[in-house]
Amino acid sequence: METKRFGTTESELAEAAALLAGGDVVGFPTETVYGLGANAFDAAAVSKIFQAKGRPSDNPLIVHIARREDVDKVVRAVPDAAKRCMERFWPGPLTLVLPVSDRVPSEVTAGLDTVGVRMPDHLIALQLIDAAGMPLAAPSANRSGRPSPTTAAHVLEDLSGRIAGVVDGGAAGVGVESTVLDLSGPVPMILRPGGVTREMLAEVLGEVQIDPVLASGVGTPKSPGVKYTHYAPRGEMWLVAGERDQEVIAERVEQAKRAGHRVGVLTTEERANEYPGAIVIACGRRRELATVAAGLYDAIRQFDHEHADVIYAEVFPESGVGLAIMNRLRKAASHRVIHT
Ligand code: TXA
Ligand code: MG
Repeated sequence: METKRFGTTESELAEAAALLAGGDVVGFPTETVYGLGANAFDAAAVSKIFQAKGRPSDNPLIVHIARREDVDKVVRAVPDAAKRCMERFWPGPLTLVLPVSDRVPSEVTAGLDTVGVRMPDHLIALQLIDAAGMPLAAPSANRSGRPSPTTAAHVLEDLSGRIAGVVDGGAAGVGVESTVLDLSGPVPMILRPGGVTREMLAEVLGEVQIDPVLASGVGTPKSPGVKYTHYAPRGEMWLVAGERDQEVIAERVEQAKRAGHRVGVLTTEERANEYPGAIVIACGRRRELATVAAGLYDAIRQFDHEHADVIYAEVFPESGVGLAIMNRLRKAASHRVIHT
């Protein structure tokens, strides 16, 4: 199949929407990462998402809506806490896990009795959902296991020939996926950290827990997708923590080069010149963690383009969006950490 590339004019969005209404899958931009959309009420269309991505069928999808009232089409009940979150954070990078309605096929929820739903804060995404006339089930538009796409070029790199189309709306802003917040239990629980931080949620909800599996890496996470290897570059990534990180990375670079490796270093603009001889990718500015989030997945993909076979990465403080950055980095590194 040839993958059509659409711009963002009204007529191009109408064409992309027609593909969606006809049961095809189409990539589209959101404020977090690019999504791969299909009619959330059409089981056959949703199955095509799993095929195109090579996604395990036990990993549920997020349903994207363009209007607040559409939430009632996909969930059975909207508890008070959910209402407050919607008011404060929608449209935005927050997915709410709520009891699923009968209209949503089990392909979307992977058979769970809950569904993740969010309203993206992106004009093109909202226009596309509106033009299609239905909520869109959409995971990130990458091949399963790869870093999420933050540009249409990333989507094509992974899925060209496997999907009907992609809408090119430029680079996604936040850069890491939405926060997944489970509101189906007694206490709100973050299943995946993202653009809306724990601190922001606590202001609205009071007590907010974090799925304990996220920190320990041990046990079965409540969000099925979290258990899979994800975000990984093709080279072996190591996180380097502690005060001597710069010195130790420099030593490791020398050792790995002597052993014949192509060595990458993931750092930020502040230290971009500190690792001579390595393939250095500077991702944003440490002083502004949002810029690191925005550049993270592109940086990880660049190591693949440079054929790095071992990569050392600096770490970040785990507050604010740093929690999401470190969650993704730990997974990209398969939890390999060097403490200095
Ligand atoms: O920012 C985002 O969330 C992007 C854009 C496209 O909206 N989407 C995204 O989708 O990251 P995906 O499929 O790559 O990740 C969805 C995550 C997975 O970890 C999945 O297991 C979890 O959300 N999830 C979805 N529905 C769930 C549910 N009912 N209960 C628990 N976890 C759920
Ligand atoms: Mg994903």
